Amino acid sequence: MITVLFLCLGNICRSPLAEGVFRQLVEERGLDGQIECDSAGTASYHVGDLPDRRTRENALKHGITLTHRARRLSGEDFVQFTYLVAMDEANYDAIQYASHRSTGFYSEENTFLLREFDPLVDDPEQGGTNVPDPYYEEANVFEQVYQIAYRCCNNLLNYIVDQHNLVAGGTQQ
Ligand code: 4NP
Repeated sequence: MITVLFLCLGNICRSPLAEGVFRQLVEERGLDGQIECDSAGTASYHVGDLPDRRTRENALKHGITLTHRARRLSGEDFVQFTYLVAMDEANYDAIQYASHRSTGFYSEENTFLLREFDPLVDDPEQGGTNVPDPYYEEANVFEQVYQIAYRCCNNLLNYIVDQHNLVAGGTQQ
């Protein structure tokens, strides 16, 4: 089983959305049973909470129901997950710090920024390195986060399929 952990700061806006979008794509492509995903935060402010209401409402508009409960990144996650995917550079740095503290190693080879998979990365209007944090923003930013998550998760899934030679309906140990 290939496992993917999406990470942001609070685990109530960006990473639970990316988890929901990615899971839907995995199911649409017949890859469930071969890839599993989860999400976590680098901070503990919202542990136990459902995703932010605005994130859930926007996800529902796209046919995705989010039921994740926020949790904090733990040392076990560095053992359990094949891939770690950060929403922004601050999350990425926090992951490296946590990895070094719990395993003695930096988590670099299997740790990515979600926007490394953005086909529009070089677009001056829509590109960028980070998924914007919508928490203190208006509704349009929640939709922008969805659009980024959708196009990046599609490409992330292409990358994983390619790396592991996955086929729809196949079995993966
Ligand atoms: P997230 O957004 O990292 O995408 O879940 C945030 C959620 C909560 C806070 C900041 C960012 N907060 O400061 O409580």
